[in-house]
Amino acid sequence: MSTNLTKQTHFDAIIIGAGACGLMCAVQAGYLGKRVLVLEKNEQPGAKILISGGGRCNYTNLYASAQQFISQNEHFCKSAFAQWSVEDTISFFETYGITGHEKTLGQLFPVSNKAKDVVQVFTGLCEDFGQEIWCGTEVTDVISADNGFEISVIRNGRNVSLTTEKVVVAAGGLPIPKMGATDLGLRIARKFGLKITETAPALVPLTITGKDQPWYEQLSGNSIFCRVWNDRISFEENILFTHWGLSGPAILQISSYWRPGEFIYIDLLPHQDIVDLIQQEREVNGKKMLLNFMSGLFTRKFAEALSDKLPSDKNLASLTKTELENIGALIHEFKVKPAGDKGYDKAEVMRGGVSADELSSKTLEAKKVPGLFFGGECVDVTGWLGGYNFQWAWASGFVIAQNI
Ligand code: FDA
Repeated sequence: MSTNLTKQTHFDAIIIGAGACGLMCAVQAGYLGKRVLVLEKNEQPGAKILISGGGRCNYTNLYASAQQFISQNEHFCKSAFAQWSVEDTISFFETYGITGHEKTLGQLFPVSNKAKDVVQVFTGLCEDFGQEIWCGTEVTDVISADNGFEISVIRNGRNVSLTTEKVVVAAGGLPIPKMGATDLGLRIARKFGLKITETAPALVPLTITGKDQPWYEQLSGNSIFCRVWNDRISFEENILFTHWGLSGPAILQISSYWRPGEFIYIDLLPHQDIVDLIQQEREVNGKKMLLNFMSGLFTRKFAEALSDKLPSDKNLASLTKTELENIGALIHEFKVKPAGDKGYDKAEVMRGGVSADELSSKTLEAKKVPGLFFGGECVDVTGWLGGYNFQWAWASGFVIAQNI
């Protein structure tokens, strides 16, 4: 393959990645009369937007604030959110015919429930502004050059070299490699001497192996509303048992705060006290078997599964003080030691990324490398489940557009 130094039209910047951040950046640059070229490895833009929220795209969260983001510098995202708020996201999409409906916990989805409507807003606006998107174009390298940068790409099987004064790295994180995810953002950062905060899968199911695994497997498909916590954080949402461990929103949330080797704790009945409930019931119905009592609180399947951890064949009146204490501990402090997580194939996001110390929080430009910008998931800003990650992608794309 030969390398061509292409004769380019003048672009104010080249954006790597036509995902949520890159597309928002291209559109916002368009409003400001700036011309950009977007390079995308996939054959279509916005691949992850299309699959997000089960194809419905949870595009923001009404309650988004810096508190729902993990970063080594928890203040870093505040400036971007001050420049582009949740209200800005809502009114931006409303302007182009997408109204939101709140599903739960502030999670906003398009009323149409179609993620493709979200992508079409961006592709339509890019066309209107004359922003070019080159799909099927893989960026392989970025190096410093006179007056800026030289970007190496493979396009239509040919090596092509592009020059630009400003580069926006919006190449996403490591999750779902089969959808185009690469480590390019991290590679570029390393190449220019920028620190990386350790990366790991986040919003990811957790696995259970060994002698405990069959217990979880027998419950596969059962979902329970719980409080899940560790010494850093606590979430109240459903957990889902699977044949290999635990999933569901509460588990995905805690996974971002879990480290290998640690326990997580589950309150299986977060708004009631199991011991009080048993004591009330045994005053009126002491002969009731514990198994039947538990079946009234949980599914029969779950109550039966608890039987090998509880004296389920005893009636309520005959439970001893110690047994009641053990039931309380089991239900309200169910201890789980995950073996691991399902990795980048199943993770919704990547934790860590380009260190916040290396970027200006106001502009997202690398402090040591003028003209080099990082936004979206490749930066060390990781949101909770529920539309927070897109809010960061939109906000960071907006901020960069103001500064290229
Ligand atoms: P994004 O990954 O969107 O875009 C990066 C782009 O760069 C990709 O298109 C990629 O192909 C391209 N690229 C990578 N390497 C390249 C290279 N070498 N050359 C050229 N192009 C390259 N969030 C949320 O808020 N609400 C939700 O409902 C969901 N749902 C959801 C479901 C699933 C299954 C996943 C995996 C993730 C989510 N997310 C989510 C997370 C959300 O998708 C994610 O945070 C954003 O897409 C990140 O936007 P970026 O633009 O940073 O990366």
